Amino acid sequence: MVSQSPFAALPATLAWQEDGLYLLDQTRLPQEIVVERISEVEEVWRWIHELRVRGAPAIGVAAAYGLCVAMQPLRHLSMQDFQVQLTQQASFLDSARPTAVNLSWSLKRMLRAAESSGAQDSAALYDVLVAEATEIHTEDQALCAGIGTHGLSLITPGCGVLTHCNAGALATTGVGTATAPIYMAHRQGVPFRVFADETRPLLQGSRLTAFELQRAGVDVTLITDSMAASIMAQGLVNLVIVGTDRVAANGDFANKIGTLSVAIAARYFGIPFYVACPSSTLDLLTANGAGIVIEERKDHEVTHVAGQPTAPVDIKVRNPAFDVTPHDLVTGFITERGIVQQPFDKNFAVLFASGGGAL
Ligand code: MRU
Repeated sequence: MVSQSPFAALPATLAWQEDGLYLLDQTRLPQEIVVERISEVEEVWRWIHELRVRGAPAIGVAAAYGLCVAMQPLRHLSMQDFQVQLTQQASFLDSARPTAVNLSWSLKRMLRAAESSGAQDSAALYDVLVAEATEIHTEDQALCAGIGTHGLSLITPGCGVLTHCNAGALATTGVGTATAPIYMAHRQGVPFRVFADETRPLLQGSRLTAFELQRAGVDVTLITDSMAASIMAQGLVNLVIVGTDRVAANGDFANKIGTLSVAIAARYFGIPFYVACPSSTLDLLTANGAGIVIEERKDHEVTHVAGQPTAPVDIKVRNPAFDVTPHDLVTGFITERGIVQQPFDKNFAVLFASGGGAL
C-alpha cells in the first residue's frame, strides 16, 4: 500500500488497499475533502473522464490500479479468457482521456508486465498486475522527487515563479512536477513567491494549486489567467514552471489550455520558461506537436461557472482542454535525470536512450 501524501495535511491523491482503490475527489476541492473507494472499472473510467482524478501522472497511476480493479473479480477465469479481458479492459481505460500520454504508457506497461511474467494461472497473473501498478506508483513519487532535485537551483532568493493549471502533488502521487522544485526550495527556507493562474474553465489553478501551496505554507498569490502578462510586465515574475501532459520528440508539448499564451508572454518579457516533465510524459514516438490529440470537452464547462449559466443559451463554444506550445518557446525541460536544453530532440535521445520515455 502506498498511500501517504507528502504533506501531512493533504490526503493522498490515491491509495491502493486490500479492499481496492481509494481516490480523492478533486472536483470537490477546495471546499470538501472527499475520498471514495472505487470498486468498478467503469467508475475508474468515469472518475478519470470527469477529472475527479486528474493530472497526467496521477491518471497514469489511477489507470494502472484501475486495471487491477477490473481484473480482480475475474481471477477465476482461464488464463486465455483472463488475457482477452485484460486487453479489452486496458483499451477501455485508455479511452477515458486522449491527451496525457501517461494513461496509455502505464496501461501498455501493465500489459507488458503480464505478457512477460510467466504466471501459471489467472490468480498469479492478477498478483503480477498489482505488483506492477504498485511499482508505477512508487516510481511516480521518485520521478517527482528527481524533478525537484534538478529544478531546485532555478528558484533563487526573492524570485517570483508563475505556474499554470495544477502540476502539483494533486496531479501526481508525489510532490508534483512543476511544484517539486517549489516545495523543495520552500523546505530549504529559500524566500520566494508563486503566482498561480486560476486556469479557466475548470479552475485547477485556484481550486488545486493555490489550495495545496497555501496548505504547505508557500507564499502563493492567485491571479486570473488574463493577469499573467501584466504581472510579468511589472517585473514580478522571474521564472515560469508548468507541467505537461505529453512532450513530443522535438520538444513541442501539450499542457492545459492557456499555457501557450503564458509561454508567448514569457518570451516577450525575456522570462525563462521551464516545463517539468517526468519521463512517463515523454512521447518520443510522436515527432512533433501536430501529432498530439487535443481533448475537446463539453460546452457547459465554458458556459457555466459553479453550475450557474454565464453565457447566452445556444451560444457557439470551443472548449479544447489543452494547447500545444512549440519547442522554441521552451528554455528547458526539468526531468528526473536533469534539465534538458535545446536541441531537445537530440538531448532527449541522449538522456533517455537507456530507458525512460513513454514508449
Ligand atoms: O485537465 P487536467 O486537470 O488533467 O490538466 C492537467 C494539466 O494540464 C497539468 O498541467 C498536467 O497534467 C501536468 S500534471 C503534473
